[in-house]
Amino acid sequence: MKMNRREVLRSIAAFLPIGAAFAGLAAMGIRFITPLKREMDRRIFTVGLDELPLNSSMKFQDLRGRDLMVVRTGDREVKAISTVCTHLGCTVYWQQDRQEFFCPCHNGRFDKNGTVLSGPPPAPLELYKVEIEGDNVFVYFKDIKEA
Ligand code: FES
Repeated sequence: MKMNRREVLRSIAAFLPIGAAFAGLAAMGIRFITPLKREMDRRIFTVGLDELPLNSSMKFQDLRGRDLMVVRTGDREVKAISTVCTHLGCTVYWQQDRQEFFCPCHNGRFDKNGTVLSGPPPAPLELYKVEIEGDNVFVYFKDIKEA
């Protein structure tokens, strides 16, 4: 059986809605099996650069009540780092003279980016996203939402 071009186009047009319906059902099935997770940056707080002299630090809490420290490490460089040690969860503190975070429990040391310098901590300290706009420092918290 030979079909002319018009008949071929009609056949395709007839099956397009059915194909679209199956594609929609397949997408819903995949969406049901693997729920989407969306990462959202939520601004936790704002600090004025003038409130944070060079090499000084301030303590805050994120939206889950975890402690973090904001440290001004340069003229327009600010770090926001979790103070929860990645070894056994002790609280680290900023050593201004050494420009390091120190964990007194087992002498864990971290640089200003949270990277492990020495001691038993198996991983770096958690960093928070920071943006500097004008004279304000914005600290963000990465929140994971089920979509
Ligand atoms: S808990 Fe921080 S080094 Fe062990």
